[in-house]
Amino acid sequence: MCCVPEVLVSRPLALESGDAAWLALKKIARVHVRTVESKVALTRHPKLKNVAAVITMGTDPVDSKFLAAAPQLAIVANHAVGYNNIDLDAARARGVIVCNTPGVLTNATAELTIGLLFAAARRFGEGVTMIRKSAYRGWHPCLMLGRELAGARLGIVGHGRIGAAVAAKAWALGMDVVHSSPMGGIALDDLLRTSDFVSIHCPLNAKTKGMFGSREFALMKQGSYLINAARGEIVDERALLAALRKNLRGAALDVFHNEPKLNPKLRTHPAVFVLPHLGSATVEARAGMARLAVNAVIEVLSGRPPANRVS
Ligand code: GLV
Repeated sequence: MCCVPEVLVSRPLALESGDAAWLALKKIARVHVRTVESKVALTRHPKLKNVAAVITMGTDPVDSKFLAAAPQLAIVANHAVGYNNIDLDAARARGVIVCNTPGVLTNATAELTIGLLFAAARRFGEGVTMIRKSAYRGWHPCLMLGRELAGARLGIVGHGRIGAAVAAKAWALGMDVVHSSPMGGIALDDLLRTSDFVSIHCPLNAKTKGMFGSREFALMKQGSYLINAARGEIVDERALLAALRKNLRGAALDVFHNEPKLNPKLRTHPAVFVLPHLGSATVEARAGMARLAVNAVIEVLSGRPPANRVS
């Protein structure tokens, strides 16, 4: 029994207990699952010192402190496509493999982004608040007018898998789609100046942190909207709130700073629609993410190279 590797899973995965990948993992390892209610930080988890593998969530910081607490660790399988929560240099220095879960959540996140576009353009947040407060006094021609997506320009910032999938769906809705990314498209300033909706789809890293500040918002069109289903820290929230008093008509966000603690000024702003990071929250995407993470662990514990290695 001393040679059975131990695996820590940061939160229960969206897999059936009879899922083949899950059963295969349990066949070769002793698996510990931290409950959703657990208040024990992952870095302080009593099993961490023994584990050969950990399945982390995108919200779990994996830094040198974490790695020091897990001296047996061979792999961090991050249950997310983003891996800004992981110090890759520290993992590399320790020889720990890091994997992510790309592809399987592309469609779910792109669909959610289209939902955010509709929510912003057609004022879903204000409408729901009106209904919940019993403040709807009856239909009239000027009640809560929004704007149509067809014919409007969508500027996509970051054109990886998710950005490209959003572009295809927005194009089918009749939007005029442009993009800007380090790989091509138009200049970011031109995108900001000409787009009615700006949607962020780039990873969070040293270059994109705070990328949307007062300068960028000042360039945006009068009456335009910001959509963010990428990472909260790409946007300077104070600058966003200031822009909402000037040229921005609204914002729809799936992500924000210090999740889950939302800035009360954003929470209560009538023109801001916020979701609790639901981009990949579909049965299909979450099962796909779980299987990729579990399979990466199985491969490494079996001495084979895993798919989706990022370090
Ligand atoms: C979700 O935010 C992810 O990176 O998968």
